Amino acid sequence: MDLKERIATEMEAGRNRSLTLLEPLSEADQVKQHSPIMSPLVWDLAHVGNYEELWLLQEVAGIPTTSPDIDGMYDAFEHPRAERTQLPLLPPSEARVYIANVRGRVFDVLEKVEFEPARPLVADGYVYGMIVQHEHMHDETMLATLNLMDGEGYRPVTTPPPRAKAVVGGEVLVAGGPFVMGTGSESWAYDNEKQAHTVNVAPFWIDVTPVTNAQYIEFVEAGGYDDPRFWDARGWKWRTKNHVEMPQFWERDGAGSWSRTRFGWLEPLPPDEPAQHVCWYEADAFARWAGKRLPTEAEWEKAASWSPAGKKIRYPWGNNAPTEERANLGQRHFGPASIGAYPGGASPWGCHHMIGDVWEWTSSDFLPYPGFTAFPYPEYSEVFFGPKYKVLRGGSWATHQTAVRNTFRNWDFPIRRQIFAGFRCARDA
Ligand code: AVJ
Ligand code: FE
Repeated sequence: MDLKERIATEMEAGRNRSLTLLEPLSEADQVKQHSPIMSPLVWDLAHVGNYEELWLLQEVAGIPTTSPDIDGMYDAFEHPRAERTQLPLLPPSEARVYIANVRGRVFDVLEKVEFEPARPLVADGYVYGMIVQHEHMHDETMLATLNLMDGEGYRPVTTPPPRAKAVVGGEVLVAGGPFVMGTGSESWAYDNEKQAHTVNVAPFWIDVTPVTNAQYIEFVEAGGYDDPRFWDARGWKWRTKNHVEMPQFWERDGAGSWSRTRFGWLEPLPPDEPAQHVCWYEADAFARWAGKRLPTEAEWEKAASWSPAGKKIRYPWGNNAPTEERANLGQRHFGPASIGAYPGGASPWGCHHMIGDVWEWTSSDFLPYPGFTAFPYPEYSEVFFGPKYKVLRGGSWATHQTAVRNTFRNWDFPIRRQIFAGFRCARDA
């Protein structure tokens, strides 16, 4: 497939995904704010189209906006999520007409555009890759919103996640020494993952798997939430003020059985899935209770992307694209799979589930790599650099394969729990 065909195919797949996700919803559920920390779903949908208009019509082709009256509403920096229901947003049907109209014009431009190597915005189809990934990121955000819906809930059409094919657990030793962090060759990489650079890490142990629900229950039942010794001072304040005693969506009945709510539906908590909906403070506290720590971002990337022979790979299993044998991505099962379900996805050091299933919190703040240059706009990453955000790696079951690789960096506030995040532990060797 040539690059233009690939772009068109990926853009269509992303749009199908967005529309299919929203299809079962009533008009009211698309307009409603299901949580003050999330946007109304119809905002995400029109924002995706508006961002596409900005980059693929205005910036690529110099076509002036046809919607100056709505551009401000869909600028994420002008209106925080909590305010977005007060805006005169396009109603669901009009939002669909608007994004389809943008898409039609984008495809006209795509036919003629030249991917001039001297124009970084379009070289290798860069800005098209950015738009494809952006829609998928908002689809994952919409899934987090759908997961918070109460009332009738949301009933996704899906197949159950695979069971374990191998018994896996314990920890592995990753050799110390230099490795290459970040990427210089990935054509659709974001600015924040570029500038491949050598990082020296001390030898360390890292868990073969993310922490499971069963392991996390042990921490809860051992009183882990009641002992400030395990908690970061800010985390302890957070958990005390909010009376947090377990991960979001969990509950325990009088007989001591554990359940969880997903998409508004209560179900038994499966013991052998990676724990999700824990914030960074909870992950950090569990790790300390277990006598371990969270891996740094560099350690995570070395364990996922660096073969013991010194070769950088795109995914833990190598350079081949993800398949359903290797990773749980793209909401194939609308939830994480059991530990051991992807022996074909293990990294050269033997770490499983590094790509897909759950995002993994690392101990690292979101900071620029040496030589960082904001491209194509500082509001993607640069304005977020600093100690307020922690880095997450590896993607979740809700992440699309085009929007994740070993070098991909995600970030969020350390109190966030609605995202599909868990963690694995590490320790010094
Ligand atoms: C990379 C997931 C942190 O959703 O806030 C979406 C991505 N940037 N629209 C986010 C993003 C602009 C971003 N994350
Ligand atoms: Fe966005």
